[in-house]
Amino acid sequence: MSLLEVKDLSVHFHDARPERFAVGGISFSMEEGEILGLVGESGSGKTVTAMCLSGLLPVGKADKGGSITLDGHEIFACSEKELNRILGREMTVVFQEPMTSFNPLYRIGRQIEEGLYVHEKKLSAAERKERALDAMVRSGLNDPEQVYRKYPHELSGGMLQRAMIAAAIVTNPKLLIADEPTTALDVTVQAQILELLRDLNRKHHMAILFISHDLNVVRKLCENVIVMKRGLIVERGKTRRVFRRPEHPYTQELIAAIPGRERLLYRDEAEGYDAGNL
Ligand SMILES: Nc1ncnc2c1ncn2[C@@H]1O[C@H](COP(=O)(O)OP(=O)(O)OP(=O)(O)O)[C@@H](O)[C@H]1O
Ligand SMILES: [Mg+2]
Repeated sequence: MSLLEVKDLSVHFHDARPERFAVGGISFSMEEGEILGLVGESGSGKTVTAMCLSGLLPVGKADKGGSITLDGHEIFACSEKELNRILGREMTVVFQEPMTSFNPLYRIGRQIEEGLYVHEKKLSAAERKERALDAMVRSGLNDPEQVYRKYPHELSGGMLQRAMIAAAIVTNPKLLIADEPTTALDVTVQAQILELLRDLNRKHHMAILFISHDLNVVRKLCENVIVMKRGLIVERGKTRRVFRRPEHPYTQELIAAIPGRERLLYRDEAEGYDAGNL
């Protein structure tokens, strides 16, 4: 059984034209420990797909169809209580804007511990702190004791994104959904976050659904990729193959738009950065 099975998933927002589906019936699966990339232009349905997976689609605004099974649990059939148990324990989500995901009034450490309050109620305060500090170290936050006491506005964008990741991995989920986690960051920090995700995957066998509009970023991290356009999957396969020999005209366009593609391929291979080698 796959870790995640998505079958014929569709979403139609009530305020959209009848024929315009945000997600138009997509199917894919993920194995434990897999890193899967999901790419596509703005509005292609990536975030809506992530929201369905994580049960965050606003109630009463859209009709949805199909099925999503995570580790044997049918997400659409879950009660709110069951969903809360799965969310944050089996699967967590990191979004693009860390600043809006943290509450400005609480210290970072308290917010990283949030998932533990919900999912591991038996932990003592000292144990919770230990787990939070460990997640912070694993997320590449140097001096975690100090960051633990800070408020969100006292951290840089890169540090906040790391803190978001720490909050997402503190419960050791099997699947991490990362929706454009590096888009708002500068290139150096972006590379560090990619390296961090790779590390989490290797050391902890965490599956990652990595969402980006940028195929070039996906290429560095994901062995497999799905390309979406207007709510549909137009191409899927090994990232390496898709990048070298895209079959769908839309994927060809996406790749042609990456500046200096040949040079990038050459350099990344020299640095062992080709996800096909993973
Ligand atoms: N809350 C909402 N209400 C109505 N329509 C929505 C809502 N959220 C998304 N949509 C529509 O669903 C479609 C898919 O949007 P989605 O946010 O999934 O795109 P995306 O692929 O994540 O794009 P981006 O790269 O810009 O993040 C779009 O047409 C969008 O307008
Ligand atoms: Mg999006």
